Amino acid sequence: MSGINEANIILGICGGIAAYKSPYIVRGLKERGADVRVVFSPNAHKFVTKTTLQAVSGHPVRDNLWDENAEASMGHIELAKWANMILIAPATANSISKIANGAADDLLTTLLLATEAPVFVTPSMNQRMYLHPSTQSNLVKLRDLGYFTIGPSDGSQACGDEGPGRMTEPNEIIDHIARHCSTEIPQNLEGVNVMVTAGPTRERLDPVRYITNDSSGKQGLAIANAAKSKGATVTLIAGPNVEPTNPGIFRIDVESAIEMNNAVQERLKETDLFIGVAAVADYRPANFLKEKIKRHGNNSLTNLELTENPDVIANVAKVKNRPIIVGFAAETNDPLKHAREKRIRKGIDAIIVNDVSDPSIGFNSTENAATLIHEGGEIAFAKQSKISLGAELIDQLENIFSLSKRQKSLRQTSHA
Ligand code: PMT
Repeated sequence: MSGINEANIILGICGGIAAYKSPYIVRGLKERGADVRVVFSPNAHKFVTKTTLQAVSGHPVRDNLWDENAEASMGHIELAKWANMILIAPATANSISKIANGAADDLLTTLLLATEAPVFVTPSMNQRMYLHPSTQSNLVKLRDLGYFTIGPSDGSQACGDEGPGRMTEPNEIIDHIARHCSTEIPQNLEGVNVMVTAGPTRERLDPVRYITNDSSGKQGLAIANAAKSKGATVTLIAGPNVEPTNPGIFRIDVESAIEMNNAVQERLKETDLFIGVAAVADYRPANFLKEKIKRHGNNSLTNLELTENPDVIANVAKVKNRPIIVGFAAETNDPLKHAREKRIRKGIDAIIVNDVSDPSIGFNSTENAATLIHEGGEIAFAKQSKISLGAELIDQLENIFSLSKRQKSLRQTSHA
């Protein structure tokens, strides 16, 4: 398979409310040229009809291991062999548990044991169910078994809750699959060590309160994945609540700016390219109060004293034999002017500015638009999913800084 247009994809749909979005996934994959066959878990039909999925996929929907007619035309082992990719969207807590534990009690789980194709699991469930230690440990098991996960995202849920567990939007899922399918992606970054920071930091005031921001880590994760898919060795330094990372990316979780600064400095030595996407808090409470601050009395608080945090990216710039450094700038006014100044002030090679006064891009959105500013010029990127923007940015950075294997060895020689 050299691209999504040659992909035979099984879309497994489980019994969750996000199943109403699954027809859009089928349509999007087919528009890109994939052949898609749909398999229902036993409860998927409670949320979406076989007729709909049959109409959009152009194939009968399979939902039963014991369907003699279906088995006669393409048996389940043949179906598993036909697929060169399996996507499960939505994947419920129950199906994730079954898959993680190797169950084979319905057609979909049986196919997963019979396939050698890569499997992408797109979790979708209530936030408490997602955060439950059982689900979290099942997701770790899945990744250890080599399954890829996409999302989930954070936000309002069908049940009225807010939090992580929403299924990633169909267009993002399709971008993700398209990137993976593209085995034509040249592995130009093989041997290049890339470090990416992503997400917010959390600056604690007392045991229950902290200062933070709305960064979700999506943009940083998309950049880390794009670098990985071009063969780079990627380290992700992730702030709180950044979505799970796929196999192959080395991840370090941190909470505060100080922890992020330490984690970056500890692993900087081998880094060729540093990309600071994290929204690091510039300030933290000057004092951490060990006991919860009371509303009234001695321990009450009306003024908050702050102290400056380390500037993670500026500290990378101070290191001898430093890597190539790319920062991000989240601006609400005069974005280009502020970003140009920020690049110089921080002593970095390039800066990618996003105008976060537009609520549809920037913090915690699925899309972004940006301008990359470097010494030799400026490149604007139209609004698109963060996944495809991540890929475009990595392509441009590779060109601008000659990051390919050959160039890397030249750089090493000139450093020596
Ligand atoms: O995470 P998402 O929801 O996907 O949203 C993406 C994003 C909007 C967070 C991202 O695109 C972005 O703009 N990241 C940078 C946000 C930011 O903090 O910008 P800044 O202008 O304050 O910082 C400029 C640069 O300095 C950044 O590279 C930042 O990582 C770095 N910095 C800032 C402060 C600090 N103490 N240490 C730093 O390293």
